This record gives sequence, C-alpha cells and structure tokens, in this order.
Amino acid sequence: YQLNYISLCLCIYRLNFLMIVHFAVLVTLYSFAVYFLYESINSSEGKSHPDLQSNFCSFQPYSVALGEAVEERRLLDSVTWPETPLIPVNFTLKQTSDPAHSTFTILPGGGEWRVGDHLKVIIQVKDFEGHPKTSGGDFIVARLHNPKLGAGVAGQVLDHVNGSYSAVFPLLWNGSAEVQVTLVHSSEAVTVLRRLSTEQPDRIHFKSLFRSGSESETTTCNICLRPNNQPICNYTDLRTGEPWFCFKPKNLNCHTRINHSKGGYKENLRKNEKELFQSHVNLKVSIQAVGSTSVLVLPKKEGNNEKKDSIVTPGPFGYYYQQVWQALGGTPVRQFSSPSAITECLKGKVIHLYGDSTIRQWFDHLREALPDLKEFDLHSSKQSGPFMTLDYPNNIMVTYRCHGPPIRFGDVPTSQLRYIANELDDVVGGSNTVVVIGIWSHFSTFPIDIYIRRLQTIRRAVIGLLDRAPGTLVIIRTANLKQLTLYETLTNSDWYSLQRDKVLRAIFKGISVHLVDAWEMVLAHHLPHNLHPQPPIIKNMINVVLSYICPK
Ligand SMILES: *[C@@H]1O[C@H](CO)[C@@H](O)[C@H](O)[C@H]1NC(C)=O
Ligand SMILES: *[C@@H]1O[C@H](CO)[C@@H](O)[C@H](O)[C@H]1NC(C)=O
Ligand SMILES: *[C@@H]1O[C@H](CO)[C@@H](O)[C@H](O)[C@H]1NC(C)=O
Ligand SMILES: *[C@@H]1O[C@H](CO)[C@@H](O)[C@H](O)[C@H]1NC(C)=O
Ligand SMILES: *[C@@H]1O[C@H](CO)[C@@H](O)[C@H](O)[C@H]1NC(C)=O
Repeated sequence: YQLNYISLCLCIYRLNFLMIVHFAVLVTLYSFAVYFLYESINSSEGKSHPDLQSNFCSFQPYSVALGEAVEERRLLDSVTWPETPLIPVNFTLKQTSDPAHSTFTILPGGGEWRVGDHLKVIIQVKDFEGHPKTSGGDFIVARLHNPKLGAGVAGQVLDHVNGSYSAVFPLLWNGSAEVQVTLVHSSEAVTVLRRLSTEQPDRIHFKSLFRSGSESETTTCNICLRPNNQPICNYTDLRTGEPWFCFKPKNLNCHTRINHSKGGYKENLRKNEKELFQSHVNLKVSIQAVGSTSVLVLPKKEGNNEKKDSIVTPGPFGYYYQQVWQALGGTPVRQFSSPSAITECLKGKVIHLYGDSTIRQWFDHLREALPDLKEFDLHSSKQSGPFMTLDYPNNIMVTYRCHGPPIRFGDVPTSQLRYIANELDDVVGGSNTVVVIGIWSHFSTFPIDIYIRRLQTIRRAVIGLLDRAPGTLVIIRTANLKQLTLYETLTNSDWYSLQRDKVLRAIFKGISVHLVDAWEMVLAHHLPHNLHPQPPIIKNMINVVLSYICPK
C-alpha cells in the first residue's frame, strides 16, 4: 500500500505535475507512514500495554529524507525487546522475577577448558515464589573475570523467551575465570520502563529564562510539550530540523530566551511499581550459581596456536588483562603511559570533543594528563562549557562542547545551545583533525525515534565532513552501564541506554568512524558501573582513542 504511494509519488514527479500536488502526496505519504509506524508499535505492544495511547511526543519526520524514515522503521525493529508481562494495577512482587531465586549453571565443556574455547552458561529466572518464569524480557548482563589477573570480558546474553537465558564468553586467559551474572531489571520492570517512554516522555522537563529590560520570566521547555492551549515558542532548528519548544512567556516574546537548564523530574509511578526497582532485591542484583561459578582455563594446546580461534561473532570487542584493555580484532590498543607519549601522538592536532558529560570526562582527563595543555578561560559554566585547552609549543588544541537539547545541564546560555551536526558542518577537517562524539544519556526519557533522528542528522554531517576532508578521524563513544537507584532508573536506566547503544552502532555501521566500546569497557571491569566511569577505565578509554589517532 505504502509502496504504491511511493511509486505514485515518483510518477507524478516525473510527469512534472504541479509541485503542490507533489507536496500534498508527500504529506499524505508521511501521515500514513507515521500512522502505520505508531499503529504497528501500538499493536505489537498493545497486548502488554493496553494503556499505550498518549503518544503526544510522536515525532514528525517531516524533513527526514524518505530513506531515513524507512531506516528508522528498520532500526526500531532491530531494538525490539521480547514481550514483557502485563502488570495489573494491584500486582504483587510474588510472580515477578527474583534474582535470589534465579540461578545460573556453567555447561560442561569437553572435559577441560582451554584458551580459545568458549564457555556457555544457562540462566534460569524464577519468581519470588521460586517458580521458573516462562516468558522472557528480563534484562541480564554477564561477565567473566579474574580479579588477581585484572582480567575481565563481557558475555553475550541470549534470551530464549521462555524464562531461560544463555550467556557465552570467549576464554581469553590462562588461569581461573569466574562467571558473574546480574539481573539488571526484571521483565516486569521493563514493562514499566517501556510504558514511561510513551506515556511520560516529559517526566524530565527543562526550563528557560526569558529576559528583556527589567522584565523576566521562566517557562517550561521540552522536545514535546503537553498541549494545554498556552502559546508556545518553536525553537526547532532550521538546519537539522531538531525540535525544541518552550511555553511562551506572558509578556515577553520568544526572542528573549536567555538560558536553558534542567527543570525537574516528575515521578508518576502506579501503585506498587516502585517495588520493581529495589536495590539489593531486584535492581542490579547478582544471580547465584548452581555448582561452580568458575572454571580453570589451561593454555592452548601446543601446536594449536593458530586458526582454532573460533571467536563467535558478534563476540566482544575486547577484554581486560592486567587491568589493560586489549582489542579483539581491529586497531590494537597501545599504552600511552607518559605525558610525553600522549603529546607526541597529539602533536599538531586539533581534537574536538562533542557530547555529554561522559565526553567531558575525556576532555578533563587529557587536560589533567598533559601539564603543557593549558586551559584557555572562556568563562564558561563548569558543566556545559565550551572549553578549550592549548599547548602552543606542540600546536595542540583540544576543545569540548556539549550537545544540543535535550540536555540536563544546569545553565547553558541560549547562544551556546548547538547541535553536533551543525558544529560538524563548520569543521574544516583534514588529517590533523580528530572529532570525538558521545551522545546518549540525555535521551533516555524520550521515545527512541528522537534519538534515531538525532543520530541520523549527526551521521549526515559526519559523512559530509569525511567527504570534504577524508583525512579527518571520527571517533564515537558508545553508552555505558551506570549505578542505578530508583530515580536513576526511571530517568536513565541501563535498559534505555542499551536500546540507544544498539541504535548508535547500527546507524554508524559501514561509516568510516571508530567506536570506543564504553559499554563493554565498563561491564568487563571490576569497578562498579558508573555513569562517569572511574579513572582506571577512563585511562583505558583514552588509550583506545589515542591508538586510533596514532596506530602502531
Ligand atoms: C486485583 O484486583 C482484581 C480486580 O479488582 C481482583 O480480582 C484480584 O483478586 C486482585 N488481586 C490481588 C492480588 O489483590
Ligand atoms: C527454553 O528455550 C531453550 C532454547 O530454545 C531450550 O533449550 C530450553 O529447553 C527451553 N526451556 C524450557 C524450560 O522450555
Ligand atoms: C598458566 O598458568 C599457570 C598457573 O596458573 C602457570 O603455571 C603456567 O605457566 C601458565 N601457562 C602459560 C602458558 O602462561
Ligand atoms: C516548528 O517550526 C518548524 C520549523 O519552522 C516547523 O516545521 C514546525 O511545524 C513547527 N512546529 C510547530 C508545532 O509549530
Ligand atoms: C540564567 O540566567 C540568569 C541571568 O543571567 C541567571 O541568574 C540564572 O542563574 C541562569 N540560570 C537559570 C537556570 O535560570
């Protein structure tokens, strides 16, 4: 049906009909596309979420090229999560997933374990009454580690959609390897998180101060404002089409907006739902083993050193050994252990960092690691920047700029609200230029199509940059796991991050950019999950970045 519209559309175009007709058909086409998109989401999730109606934050892909709208559909399919249980209003925890009753079991291998083999673990999720679950959708992560060796690797978890899961790990080091399995969220908790995405995309809101002369007023802003008959100011970016709105101040016009900041958070859980998000109960809690939690891995058999390496794809990107991150395939990770080694690598380069606070951490790390890299005081706010550091003798410049709204920073002047795509359009580029992008955590509360849309505009700009200046190096930081409380979960759960992470990898697949796999680097490490990973992890990330800039 839609295809007919497309061909009709193309046909009319070829016949050189009135542009107005073309436009009208396009608009109709989009309305249908959007309608079908949401209809199909509603109908596929409708069973578990009978209350999924208030799509007031549905996205208007009016300026998205047709190819991208189709891609969006594909991306949405690629992050489909198994159906999760319906939770009645008066539900109790009894029949929900309980990590304390759940178990994992290491499957017997061929008698002995050797480096290069794979270890498989079966996880059975049970409820608080000890009954095995019969549906999937629990969010489980797994790692294999050896604290003495400073070794760790992320496992690949597969949902069998019947209450059982498996996790697979490559065996990468000689010695003991211990399995750790963690239930991040029960499938019932995922039901709630999903519902919040559609029903309460505005649970975090933003505000702006408007001022002119002695008059000032603060109003609420967001990607989507609940319609309430109040006039709005439309700050949709004309170049990227990124939407942004504020309620119009009563006595001031829309041009008088001075700054932007996080407004607040509205928790609106239903009765009992909080119980699904309890630390030490069902929020990021370890699952115990039946039998042994570890295996002894022997070195590879003599004369069996090559080829046997049947690392499953998609396997992990890397692993820690002696606290040092090693790549599995791709660019080998070098160790830049002294300021002079880093300076040598960055000599003559401009490094632009764009994104959220997890990218700002990299800026801070470089500034602290290099005594000759001096901050030039731009009098910016500590949180949002922009920042610039310079090393004159070595001709190094490192800059940081935060991404455009939605951004939950404290105080960003309106003049400094910039979209990464637009910034990239202003970069000359070339072999002395490195662009680093990290954008994920401020999008968790919104429907995923908003994130997809953002990445598509960034990708368009990256492709443009690489076309006009092919020597430019583009590095992208993925999302990572973090510490979760109830508040952190509802606003920024790892489950939201995982969806976004999958989308990010898919969108930049096939584009000549380098990834820093922050997800695995945090999951595989022994330090606790943290939105802002601790220095040993950051140091490893920076080594990956520098290895891309200065490969062996
Ligand atoms: C929940 O409410 C339904 C309908 O009001 C009732 O039939 C059911 O027994 C209640 N369940 C519990 C666990 O209270
Ligand atoms: C669940 O599915 C897996 C994979 O299909 C299967 O091996 C396992 O036996 C199933 N478990 C149950 C309890 O049905
Ligand atoms: C493997 O580890 C054992 C001790 O755990 C050690 O004796 C042996 O030399 C190691 N082999 C290799 C090849 O590293
Ligand atoms: C906001 O502005 C954009 C760009 O001018 C326009 O396409 C869009 O329809 C406007 N949205 C609303 C709700 O007015
Ligand atoms: C916005 O700007 C005003 C005036 O410069 C300042 O007082 C205020 O702290 C800023 N931040 C917010 C969140 O209003």
